[in-house]
Amino acid sequence: NGGANDPKNLKVKLVLLGDSGVGKSCIVLRFVRGQFDPTSKVTIGASFLSQTIALQDSTTVKFEIWDTAGQERYAALAPLYYRGAAVSIIVYDITSPESFHKAKYWVKELQKHGSPDIVMALVGNKADLNEKREDGIDYAEKNGMYFIETSAKTADNINQLFEEIAKRLP
Ligand code: GTP
Ligand code: MG
Repeated sequence: NGGANDPKNLKVKLVLLGDSGVGKSCIVLRFVRGQFDPTSKVTIGASFLSQTIALQDSTTVKFEIWDTAGQERYAALAPLYYRGAAVSIIVYDITSPESFHKAKYWVKELQKHGSPDIVMALVGNKADLNEKREDGIDYAEKNGMYFIETSAKTADNINQLFEEIAKRLP
């Protein structure tokens, strides 16, 4: 008991931030329920869901997920959700330069006001769309963030996103 190789059960507060329409709620729905809703409604305020995953060393990680509302009118509420968060997932839509710009805004806000040891991921969602894309990899590297492109629609890289975050927890 208490040995370094004992499985652990971690509980992790996670917040999703990003412009309205980038697919935050769809990412969460895909991760938690394995579903995609093409008629997803805009989030009002924020919504809460949780999901537990098991890692290879049989550590379990329970993500307590705050899915925030991206519409500008809710921006002032964000600190309520990112305060004390161990992880933030900042999402943009790879086909929307405006949403990439907004993602950078959230990165700066968290660098200023988030927990000092917060694990940050930058996610380019809607990777299934074959359009001219914003590539966040350089920006993510410069800012010490994990970067991945996902599709909530096809499920591509959604589980990987959360598994990689779990591996990066302190
Ligand atoms: P707010 O709640 O207003 O902040 O928006 P949100 O970021 O939660 O967006 P939401 O998840 O509701 O998705 C917005 C729209 O994008 C929906 O119509 C989805 O069907 C669509 N969408 C989400 N993820 C994807 C994806 O990976 N690919 C494609 N093609 N469409 C997606
Ligand atoms: Mg939403």
